[in-house]
Amino acid sequence: MPLDSDLLERFDDLISRLGYTNRSEAFRDLIRDRLITERTADDTAPVVGTVTLIYDHHARGISDKLTELQHANHELVVSTSHAHLDHNSCLEVLIVHGESAVVSQFAGRLIGLKGVQHGRLVMTVQPTRLKSRKKVRISIATNKSKNTDPCVFQLRGENACTPVARN
Ligand code: NI
Repeated sequence: MPLDSDLLERFDDLISRLGYTNRSEAFRDLIRDRLITERTADDTAPVVGTVTLIYDHHARGISDKLTELQHANHELVVSTSHAHLDHNSCLEVLIVHGESAVVSQFAGRLIGLKGVQHGRLVMTVQPTRLKSRKKVRISIATNKSKNTDPCVFQLRGENACTPVARN
């Protein structure tokens, strides 16, 4: 798989700043992140995730509305954690699970409540949900060099990428 050397250089710079010690590991994470994004885009995919909410507890009825919504959708909520950030602001983090579209809709209702100042849903899937029996061997090389960084991707959750020695 030929890659533009400038692109690869910038990529190496980025992953080094992110703390990666080798390119294979960074590629593995990128690929898994993309696969998870694809999977969670499927409305019926079973997902797990978090809903992070910042709100002012003085906003009229906000605490009651948040509690009511969570009780009405208790099958989606695994747990809730609350921190009083200061005199006004509250941070609430919910661990949620369920079908992707249902979880998204629930998060949207929480985040859309009047008084919620910022909210974000992060969805992911358990590694076993990405399980595939296919093995894909790829190698990355710049256009200008013969250096390769081959890597066997075995998308089975743990041990997803087994780096192979350079030639
Ligand atoms: Ni609070």
